[in-house]
This record gives sequence, structure tokens and C-alpha cells, in this order.
Amino acid sequence: MSEAGSYCVEGEIGIVTIDNPPVNSLGLRTRRAIQEGFNRFAADSSVKAIVLICGGRTFFAGADISEFGQPPVAPDLHDILRLIENSAKPVVAAIHGTALGGGYELSLVCHYRIAVPSAMVGLPEVSLGLLPGAGGTQRLPRIVGVPAALDIITGGKPIKAKKALELGMIDSLADEGKLREDAISFARHILADGKPMMRVSDRNEKLIEAKASADIFEEYLKRNARAFRGFKAPGHIVRAIQAAVDTAPDFDAGMAREMELFLELEASPESLAQRYYFFAERETVKVPDIGKDVGTLPVKSVGVIGAGTMGGGITMNFLNVGIPVVLAEMSQEALDRGIGIVRRNYENSAKKGRMTAERVEQLMALITPAIGLEALREVDLVIEAVFEQMSVKKEIFSKLDGICKPGTILASNTSFLDLDEIAAATGRPDHVVGMHFFSPANVMRLLEVVRGEKTSKEVINTAMKLGKSIGKVPVLSRVCWGFIANRIMAARAVQANELILEGPTPQDVDKAIYDYGFAMGPFQMNDLVGLDVIGRDDVERSVSGDLVKLDRLGQKKNGGYYDYDENRKASPSPVAAQVIADFAQYKGIENKGPQSDEAIVARLLYPVVNEGAKLLEEGIAIRASDIDVAAILGYNWPVYTGGPMFWADTIGLQKVVDGLNALGIPPATLLVEKAQNGDRFTTP
Ligand code: 3HC
Repeated sequence: MSEAGSYCVEGEIGIVTIDNPPVNSLGLRTRRAIQEGFNRFAADSSVKAIVLICGGRTFFAGADISEFGQPPVAPDLHDILRLIENSAKPVVAAIHGTALGGGYELSLVCHYRIAVPSAMVGLPEVSLGLLPGAGGTQRLPRIVGVPAALDIITGGKPIKAKKALELGMIDSLADEGKLREDAISFARHILADGKPMMRVSDRNEKLIEAKASADIFEEYLKRNARAFRGFKAPGHIVRAIQAAVDTAPDFDAGMAREMELFLELEASPESLAQRYYFFAERETVKVPDIGKDVGTLPVKSVGVIGAGTMGGGITMNFLNVGIPVVLAEMSQEALDRGIGIVRRNYENSAKKGRMTAERVEQLMALITPAIGLEALREVDLVIEAVFEQMSVKKEIFSKLDGICKPGTILASNTSFLDLDEIAAATGRPDHVVGMHFFSPANVMRLLEVVRGEKTSKEVINTAMKLGKSIGKVPVLSRVCWGFIANRIMAARAVQANELILEGPTPQDVDKAIYDYGFAMGPFQMNDLVGLDVIGRDDVERSVSGDLVKLDRLGQKKNGGYYDYDENRKASPSPVAAQVIADFAQYKGIENKGPQSDEAIVARLLYPVVNEGAKLLEEGIAIRASDIDVAAILGYNWPVYTGGPMFWADTIGLQKVVDGLNALGIPPATLLVEKAQNGDRFTTP
């Protein structure tokens, strides 16, 4: 026995069982336990073959991410890989749960791999801004070939056992629940049949084959340029796989190149940010005043009010995990249209082969259509997703309070309104919570859970856990205008709208923001969403309002900030330029000419950081990393910057304070304090 390992012998088979919760990551404790097991069985002449298996919920989930950037401590992962691959006795990896990153790479130095059908294997390092640095870029192409390895490693998605078997990533499937027995009998068969010791590193045919198509790597980079933009890891992954081909059959030379490229990524700001983000995403569910003693309420059925795009998307989240939904609308027509959209979404997935036609019908059967609110009487949770008007919401909540059984949670999907005012329309404000989804609600992973003044801890806990169970990342916010994501990003919109009156064009602004790493700039986004939709009723006149008056609604009609050809290709618009110039004149703002990209980025994004600091000051957000998660998942803020707060820490808070002062925007007290103390918002 070691701290994390136990070792036993059954007949001729030695079994190394590692159990290092929560996910058997390959930190020092785990590595020592593996080392002890293999040394012990190497010395035990009664053992002829070895099974390596994990206890707990999963096979090794990869290297211990918290060890990156620290000096290595022996035995390091590579020592362990060598120990296993050079074992004189065949080793069978027995996989359940998820064999990821270094975990799957470790299975690749075993001589055989067997997995239960529910297991998944994969190399997700790319999402940490890394490449598989324990031989994954050298061994995987030797098994699946170069084209498949490129997709698997740059995509980073885990692969289900059955598919992995087809690809050769594992050698056999065990019966679910019988992994240990099946792995032992697999090992016995190897011995009985005298099967050879299979070393992946000796298999060179697929790499030699690839030497013939020299252009494959450049073409791959070109084809994926858009998806890889701004990320450092995908390019390095491609180069590492290329090295496997170039150096084959010299395995060690390829490994040396993989290590060089890995170390470059490990030290890169992109990977630092992405590793920070990995933990940030897992931190959001931790609410300081809600401990393990706080329970949750059962949610076995859900009601959704409003079958528009939002309500339909929200509904799909619950159907997908088997929770039935009563979908309520005011008219049969609206209801039919909404249900039709949900059906079409599922049918499109079926067309793409992502689900069967039978599954579509199963999911649709979970919807109970309803006119009016009466049918919501027995559901455990109601989510209201009607349009943003306080009087309408209050009326609905007051009615729901009278209709729904005691204990039903009443949630609003409001994006801006005061949840406490809505809650006050009911006799159960402790059961009122915000559940703010982002559009399209069946796709976007952010869920802001809004905690009202009187919302009970149990209700918060329920909403957070439920959010996680439907695949969202729940971020907790207190009540304020726009909550977290919309409030910080509104600060960017305000600056963008002002800036185009001062000289830079919408194209200049969009380009600077695109080059920073966003998928599109604010004006491209406005045109896409529709200028009639983004219209503001808090100002008398605006550029977008003036464009709407000219019937320029954006991409959907006559252009907006841009002109569009029949293929929706954008070009600068002379009409929009005139509207902007007229508006600037009306406001008495002088055109001072173009600005640098750097100045534009500072103008638009420093105020986002400032707003984030205010959210912390006001206690709206629990922690800076929650703000980063909200920006990344709600607004596609480029993840390799770590989000606005991590980015501000990276460039230096004093620089942000100076920038804000120069723009005449008062910096938040917390921001100034942290800058003065040389402090940070986030912990890398
Ligand atoms: N290192 C350190 N901690 C890890 C970890 C890892 N590789 N993987 C998970 N954890 C921690 C999480 O931070 C979390 O901690 P917390 O409870 O204190 O918040 C805890 O383990 C449980 O994780 P999840 O909440 O994510 O648990 P799930 O059950 O939802 O998911 C999982 C399990 C699918 C294994 C998921 O944790 C995961 O995807 N882990 C990361 C896998 C990965 O990226 N591996 C590659 C690592 S890099 C590498 O191997 C480099 C190599 O090539 C050299």
C-alpha cells in the first residue's frame, strides 16, 4: 500500500490500483504510487503481466494542472512513462471515466488498452493553451494517422470508447461494471496467446505514409486559420505532429521536439490565461456563505413562460437532461410557432447525425404545451422569459404566486430589471431568483443566477446546481442593472458609440476589437442583431436610432453601420458615415481624426475593467474570476487573455488607472487601491 495506490496479485497478474481523488490527476502522490506498484511487480517473479486501473470516478484525468510552472519533482511524468513502456511484463491499462491528456498519454505507453463503453479518451491540452507533452503528439498519429491526429489534438474533444475502438485508440471494450475482471482476463489471454509486447512508439507505418504528402501541415493551418486565430497552442500542435512525421522512425528525436514546443507553450501568456480560466470556471459554484449544510429543492419538472427564441432555447436545456417542461404562452399561434422552432432545432441536429429521429420524438414528448398560466400549478420551477417590461413581469409573478404550489421556485430570465421589485409582487420573495440565460440559450454556456435581497440560500443552491446539471456554468450575481456580463459590456458599447463621433470609423473600431481577439466588433455585432432590437429608450437620439429612421436595420434590411451585398459581405457605408457626421455635428463634437488600435482598445476595454472593479466593490460579483467567466462565456471575450480582470492584471493595473484618467473616466476606488498596492484582481 502507498498513500494513493494498492497492489495485489491474482494468479499471474499484478494489479496496480491508483486512487487519488477527485480525478486521479498525475501529481506527485499519484506518480509515486504508480512507481511503487511497477517496481514491486518488476521484482515479483510470480507476476507475468500487469493491469493498471484506477479507483474513484475516473482513470487519470491528466497531469496535475496546478503543478505547471513549478520546478519538476522526481519521479516526473516522463520517468513514469518510461518505467511503464520499458516494463518487461506486458501492461494493460483499464480505463473508466475519462482518460484525458497525460492520463490518456500514460495509457499509450501501456502495451494494451481496454475501456468500458461509458469511458471517454482524449487529449484536451489545447484548451489549456498546451499540447500533449507526454508523447501524445508522437504516439497518437502512429495509431490513428496524421489527419485524424491533427483533428483530435487541435480539437481537444474527448472521444467515446466505441469510437475510440474504431480508431484504434483503445484495443478492446470491457463490459460496463466489469472492468477489473475483463482487464485481468484480457491480460491472461495475452499471456496464453503469447501476444507480442505492443509499443506504440515502434509503429511507424502511418508516419512513413504521411511523408509523401508534404503539404498536409501548411494546408491544415490555412484551412483552420479562422478557428485558430489568436491561440498559440494549435500551431504548436501541428508543428509537433509534423515533427513526428519528419523524424520517424527516430521516436526520441520527435519527443525532443515535442518537449521544446511544450515548454514554449507552458511559458506563454496564452496558456497562463487558459490555465487560470480552467480553475475560474470551476470556482463559480463556490458561494462563500452557502456551505455543504445548505440543501437543494427537488426540481423534477419545469415550467417556461414564453415560447419565443429565448423560452424555446431555455426549454431545450431541460428536455436534453430528461426534465419535462410545461411551455406556456398566451396564444395558440405563439405556442405552435415556439414548439415548431424547438422541433426544427432538434431535427437539424438529427440531420447532422447528432441524434436519431426517435430521440427527437422522445425529447418533444417531454413538452406539455399550455395556454395561460394555470397548467404551471404543479411544476417545481417556473422560468419566466417574456419581454423586458417591469409591469408585465410583476403581473405574471403575482399570478404565479397564486397559482403555483407552495415551494415552487419562481425564476425570471430578466437581463436588466430589478429582481427585488419583481419578487415583491409575490408572497414568496425567498423563492424568487434570477436565471439569466444568454442567447441562443440552448448553446451559450453562461447562466447568471441572480440572488435577490430575500432569496433563500436553498433556492440559490438549487439554481446553481441545476444550472450545472444542464451543462451551464452558473455565475452568481447580486441585483443591479444588467447584472455582470451585460453591465460590464454596456460600458464598452457606450465608449464605442462615443468614439465614432470623434474620428475613428465603425470599421476602425471593429478592426481593433477583432484584432484584440473578439469574433467581431461592436458595430458588426449591432448590424447582426438588428439596430431596431438594440434601440435605446433612455436617450432621446442616437446614431443607431437615426439609422433606424432611415430604415437601415442592419444585415436584415438595407444595411446599418455597414452596407451589405447579396452575400452579406460588408463594406464601409457612405450613408452611415453621413449619419454619424450629422449626429456629431448635432452634439457639437469635433472630428479629431483616426486613432491607433491600441488607443481604441484602451478606450473600449479599460472601462469594462473599471465596471468589473465596481461590481466587486458593490458586492455584486463574488470574485474577479467570476467576471472573467461571464465575459468569456457570455460575450466570447477571447479566453487566451483570461477575461477583462485577468487581462488588466497582465498589462498592469496602474496602466489601466492612468488610461482611464487620461480618458476622463474616474477609476473605481478598488482599482486605484489595488494599483497603488501593486496588488492584483486574480491569482494566476
Ligand atoms: N489537474 C488538477 N486538478 C484537476 C484536474 C487536473 N488535471 N482535473 C480536474 N481537477 C480538479 C478540478 O479543479 C476540480 O477541483 P475542485 O473540486 O477543487 O474545484 C476537481 O478536480 C473536479 O473537477 P471537475 O469539477 O472538472 O469534475 P468533473 O467530474 O466535472 O470533470 C474531468 C472531470 C472531465 C476529468 C475534468 O475535471 C477535466 O476535464 N479535467 C481536466 C482534464 C485535462 O485537461 N487534462 C489535461 C491536463 S494537461 C496534461 O495532461 C499535460 C500533459 O500532456 C503533459
